[in-house]
Amino acid sequence: MRILSEGIPLLLALLLTVHPAAGAARKIIIDTDPGTDDAIAIMLALNSPELDVRALTIVPGNVTTAKGLDNALRMMSLAGRCDIAVAAGARQPLFQKLTTAEFFHGQNGLGNVELPVSHCQADVRFGPDLIIEMVHANPHEITLVPLGPLTNVAMAIQKDPSIVPLVKEVVLMGGSVSGGNVSGAAEANIHNDPEAAQLVFQAGWPVTMVGLDVGNMTLLTRKHIETLARHPGPVSDFIYKVAVFRIAFSEKLGAAGAAMYDPLAVGVAIDATLVEAPLLHVDVETKGEFTRGETVANRNGRNELNVLARFADGDH
Ligand code: BDR
Ligand code: CA
Repeated sequence: MRILSEGIPLLLALLLTVHPAAGAARKIIIDTDPGTDDAIAIMLALNSPELDVRALTIVPGNVTTAKGLDNALRMMSLAGRCDIAVAAGARQPLFQKLTTAEFFHGQNGLGNVELPVSHCQADVRFGPDLIIEMVHANPHEITLVPLGPLTNVAMAIQKDPSIVPLVKEVVLMGGSVSGGNVSGAAEANIHNDPEAAQLVFQAGWPVTMVGLDVGNMTLLTRKHIETLARHPGPVSDFIYKVAVFRIAFSEKLGAAGAAMYDPLAVGVAIDATLVEAPLLHVDVETKGEFTRGETVANRNGRNELNVLARFADGDH
């Protein structure tokens, strides 16, 4: 995948504009492990008239499900959006122990920015069940936007495979075709539940993988966030502080800015022309000693053409 235009100014402009949810907007469910860049992505989605956020389902990843649920509810309360369903999902990846990433996202997962206690209530449904219900209630209309490990989405299709043809598309942050961030091969969201990711990639629905390759080109810098500082308010102040945390962390690692992984996936859900996405067959490595969690993309295209079947003269 290639970025076709400068993504960050567009993302910032959208964050600063408050719009009521529009009738013709694309209905999305965000599955998330909030998470600093998840937080920025969620606020971006809420402030984008192109999107109608129907639900947040919480998956374990950057933080535990309990912490992620609390973070999501506090954010919805801050944004005045208690109308959006927020439901806890799985507690663990399908087949491995949970490893969280407070070292990267801060002790509370939100860059140590403390938000007031939420006025919103959690939805009582189990996250994967909520996905199933909403997809059936809105056939061919829901776009799934997973921003964390794919555990909840995999559980939903395992429980009810009939949702697959009823989902409009899946635009996910995860994977890479050029090396990982957790290991040499694997990106964090896929590494945190490779079996779930393989189920999601092989389900048969349209998947747009917004991977590290493009996320690493979408850097938020101190210059960008000056714009946020000029527009104070509860949400922009929160995002400003989260962004400062992420930028400072990235600067310590020698990067020019903070990679906006999850916000870019939301950006692609808003406007697919932000990127160029060739059709590739992608499998997830679930067994490799060094490559578990790698997204193995066949750059020859959608079909597996990497086996030499016969020569043109028919001798083989
Ligand atoms: C992904 O992993 C998480 O740390 C981020 O929130 C993002 O979804 C990037 O590898
Ligand atoms: Ca995330």
